[in-house]
Amino acid sequence: MPKKEIHTSARETPRPPVVAIMGHIDHGKSTLLDYIRKSNVVAGEAGGITQHVSAYEIEHKTEKGDVKHVTFIDTPGHAAFMESRRHGATIADIAILIVSAEEGVKEQTRESLKLINERGTPFVVAITKTDKPNANPIRVKQELAEADVFVEGYGGDTPCVEISAKTGAGVPELLEMLLLVAELEEFTADDNAPGEGFVLESRINPKTGIAAVSIVKNGVVRVGDFFVIDNVASKIKKITKTDGATINEARAGTPFVITGLTGLPPAGATFYVTRDKKELKRLVPNGKKTAERGQQNATGDDARAFFPLIIKGDTRGTLDAIVMAAQRLGNENLVIRILASGIGDINERDMQIAKSAKDTIVIGFNVSIDTTAYDIAKKDAVNVKFFDVIYKITEYIEGEVKTRTPHITVEEEAGRARVIRMFNKIGKHKQLIGAIVLEGVIPLGTIKIVRNENEIGTAKISEIEVDKSKRNEVDKGTQFGTLIEGKVTLALGDILRAIRIVEK
Ligand code: GTP
Ligand code: MG
Repeated sequence: MPKKEIHTSARETPRPPVVAIMGHIDHGKSTLLDYIRKSNVVAGEAGGITQHVSAYEIEHKTEKGDVKHVTFIDTPGHAAFMESRRHGATIADIAILIVSAEEGVKEQTRESLKLINERGTPFVVAITKTDKPNANPIRVKQELAEADVFVEGYGGDTPCVEISAKTGAGVPELLEMLLLVAELEEFTADDNAPGEGFVLESRINPKTGIAAVSIVKNGVVRVGDFFVIDNVASKIKKITKTDGATINEARAGTPFVITGLTGLPPAGATFYVTRDKKELKRLVPNGKKTAERGQQNATGDDARAFFPLIIKGDTRGTLDAIVMAAQRLGNENLVIRILASGIGDINERDMQIAKSAKDTIVIGFNVSIDTTAYDIAKKDAVNVKFFDVIYKITEYIEGEVKTRTPHITVEEEAGRARVIRMFNKIGKHKQLIGAIVLEGVIPLGTIKIVRNENEIGTAKISEIEVDKSKRNEVDKGTQFGTLIEGKVTLALGDILRAIRIVEK
């Protein structure tokens, strides 16, 4: 499958750093971002909880008077949104680990830290809510040390700023600190390259279609380009900033929204753009421009298949509980993806979202379905299930997970042998050699040839002989003669790695 790595190239210019705000629920991530951008997103959030990842680009005037751009990603702190935090951590160049001065280090603080460390992301600690009477920044620093984060003055040099998102105290220092880290890391991009980056989140709007909030990490995305994710290409007709303003191009470090996509891309997916129709043909084989999603989600760092669900419930509390329970039921090869969830009857919008992915199941808990949605479900064979007991839902999803989990085949090494004798070549692609098994077993079948620790090709063992008798396999210590078919001309000392395909 054609897939590109995000790369950087020679002609680089500085780009704004992408900063993820991470930490435990209610520790003040959105309030900080809100203070920074001086608008009011927190008030508009359902239940005051961030349910998805949002991105904003801000302009900051430094102490020296320079204007610098920083892109922030807000991530949810609720335990149920591990995947969202993971994507935030993957996409960001720098992280701010928010810790409330009242509550200190909590479960999702530690989990955020783990994600940050796994990716080696540079980070700054912000101890927030320092305006509160019970604030105890010293205790927070001690707790951080217990979690192996040693801040300045507490045995280490991890930058740490005490702030209040209410009064704004410490926020300018935090921004200066971020820009300092960014300067040290020197984030650059090539303005002449076609854009590449990540999808932060995708949504479906019944009127305007599928939209993706994305961030360019290198190059430029322009109106007219083909936007390619996985194997799906969409021609870009319109680009907007996250505040809704239309733009013609998005440069590196900038979050932007593309509307009218052909498929619903998973959060965290990598994208790239191309203008060239020929290249598009090469990258998107079979001219496949339509979505065929729901089964394989082979993008970004998450190459697992996913199981799309829509969950409607009668009350917030039960809905949250069902969503959380459902999300836990995935496994290492299958991710549960809740495409949408909400309170109220199953409606037309739910059906449209359901149809954007393959084999979506729409679950209703103590709700019913309206007539339009019912007609769509019947016409387009959308799977809708109703429940009135929560554990029946989990039982049902568990059953589905079992049948949907793909069997992933992986290559395993069965054994290794070394070439110790060379005989004549028989024909162009056949040679007889003598070898000794160093490890494991060598069966008939595929081998990889390793020379000076580099894999130089593959071949097939079509015959094995020990003391003039034919064998199907040989084990450790055995010397054997073998007929090898393949293009590589073998040499003394080459290592033959026998490969076995195993289903997991
Ligand atoms: P999730 O997105 O759900 O993980 O929460 P969050 O970390 O984004 O927390 P949010 O910004 O929504 O803040 C939670 C509560 O703490 C809100 O009621 C804020 O008003 C309050 N809060 C946040 N920062 C401060 C602060 O510095 N001082 C005071 N006094 N209150 C704060
Ligand atoms: Mg929030």
